[in-house]
Amino acid sequence: MEQIKDFNTYKTAYQKSIENPEAFWAEISEEFLWYKKWDKVLNWNFETPEINWFDGGTTNICTNAIDRNLEKFGDRTAIIWEPNSPDEAAKKFTYRELHQAVCQCANALLSLGIAKGDRVCIYMPMVPEGAIAMLACARIGAIHSTVFAGFAVESLRDRINDSECKLLITADAFHRGEKTVELKTIADEALKQTPSIQHCLVFNRTNTPINFVQGRDIWWHDLVPQQATTHEPEQMEAEAPLFILYTSGSTGKPKGVVHTTAGYMVFMAYTFKQVFNYRDGEVFFCTADIGWITGHSYTIYGPLLNGGTTLMFEGVPTYPDHGRFWDIVDKHKVNILYTAPTAIRTLEMFGTDIFKAKNLSSLRVLGSVGEPINEEAWHWYFENAGKKNCPIVDTWWQTETGGILISPIATVTPLKPAFATLPLPGVQPILVDENGKEVVGNPAEGRLCMKFPWPGMARTLYGNHERYKQTYFSTYPNLYFSGDGAKRDENGYYRITGRVDDVINVSGHRIGTGEVEEAINSNDLVVESAVVGFPHDIKGQGLYAFVICNSDVTDTETLVKEIKHTVNERIGAFARPDKIQIVPGLPKTRSGKIMRRILRKIAEGDTSNLGDISTLIDPSVVETILKSAV
Ligand code: WTA
Repeated sequence: MEQIKDFNTYKTAYQKSIENPEAFWAEISEEFLWYKKWDKVLNWNFETPEINWFDGGTTNICTNAIDRNLEKFGDRTAIIWEPNSPDEAAKKFTYRELHQAVCQCANALLSLGIAKGDRVCIYMPMVPEGAIAMLACARIGAIHSTVFAGFAVESLRDRINDSECKLLITADAFHRGEKTVELKTIADEALKQTPSIQHCLVFNRTNTPINFVQGRDIWWHDLVPQQATTHEPEQMEAEAPLFILYTSGSTGKPKGVVHTTAGYMVFMAYTFKQVFNYRDGEVFFCTADIGWITGHSYTIYGPLLNGGTTLMFEGVPTYPDHGRFWDIVDKHKVNILYTAPTAIRTLEMFGTDIFKAKNLSSLRVLGSVGEPINEEAWHWYFENAGKKNCPIVDTWWQTETGGILISPIATVTPLKPAFATLPLPGVQPILVDENGKEVVGNPAEGRLCMKFPWPGMARTLYGNHERYKQTYFSTYPNLYFSGDGAKRDENGYYRITGRVDDVINVSGHRIGTGEVEEAINSNDLVVESAVVGFPHDIKGQGLYAFVICNSDVTDTETLVKEIKHTVNERIGAFARPDKIQIVPGLPKTRSGKIMRRILRKIAEGDTSNLGDISTLIDPSVVETILKSAV
């Protein structure tokens, strides 16, 4: 695959990808291992919607990520693992070792009766075995559904049940900073209500005593290392589902976004190599957890598909102190660091003294993902981490897009702080107004849509194609709607302004207000609630909950604590509201709709102009809420 080396080459590649997308992607796809080449590169229809890449082809992404590299790079490090505590030894897997480990895990899965098409839930901390489990699923054709280890019982249970997983792979517990999370205890609770689960494979990470259910539970160390170190991979149809990843939307329960084999493979390999200007032998450190899409695409698949070295970090940026990222960079000679603005802003708070004792000369490229990066954080990152000579790629994408769509190409695209800049080759963005009319010319502002498919896009929502259609393709006919708003400057550079729906981005975690409201409302003392986002210095956005409680509640302080606890227990600590205000009523229109616009203004503390409130049933409620705003 040709690497884009200068801006003109980018423009030529872009032009080619628009004029003849099939030829463009076919050329890139040639170098992968195919059991059978495709008959047709692309069939698509955004109305039904049906998107089909590399029809007729068969391949296996695990073989392409591992076996394909063995001959050339067998002794190269594939995965570096840095544990939570710097006192514990780091671990490394060469491609050869990774191959053996994945084959053993694949054989173990087969011995447990897992077959092609079965769903396997992976609820694991940031340990190599999490990646090994995912790759082993891909190898045998099982569909992995990784659930972030920060999710609580009910979230785990619902995800397992939605896709009827047969197997759960988890760990006894793990350390994150000073905390220990007893993962197996949470899993045990969830498994009380998951009829489809037959077995639970448990990786011993911390020697924490666990409740062991005979017949159902199996220790990883009792099963996996005993298996054969070779395995004949399953030949997968190009459009065979590879994984499911649940994400939040404006309404309803989390959606099981489905990605398929060949298109995802080609797109991750391509975007990784281009965006980060990845060069052979470099060490790539993506700080995202494997439980999120960034972890799937750029901690695991993207680097391995390029024969790269990827670094997995178990801990947090502030443990044992706020220099940890930089210590890891120096210790493992990291060349490319890919993290989230929320991490940068957290570190920014501690000042820059820490940098005096760090070298960081290995760094060449920096990346940002998950939320808009504000200019201040951009400059701080550029100056302190990058010493003003590492380009920052501000990458815009989503769980549904599989990989990066709009981003500078490192060392190629002229940068502009806080701008995701230009679409990658093969990506055709368009801005539309509220009625779906294209906003032409520059500068412009509108809702960000895509008018043409790209290989890595999600194909459906698990078990609910209608919802897929409704969510992404029905707002504006014949367009994929991202849910984000964007501006385009005079040079056509995109700046993502944030969600235009009820999805809130807290520390780069996507949270649906509806989900948090449902959790809050499950408390017997709560009558109704409305959750909105507000600007937060570190997290980007925080959650503000307006709650109506039963009239007999006198101790609201305890209630507030209880509500936080409920959200912790039902969703996970990352979704806990930052602010909770007990209110006597909510601003509702005559048709019963909550006017979130007003609540957002109050949450922001911007009450100078609340707009027209005359359509409310009871406008006085606004005054009352304002008086006790927290
Ligand atoms: C937001 C994460 C601004 C956006 C990969 C999107 C961004 C949502 C950026 C997807 C960026 C992601 N600039 N906003 N560079 N990257 N977002 O599914 O609102 O967890 O819709 O995927 O994050 O979040 P998700």
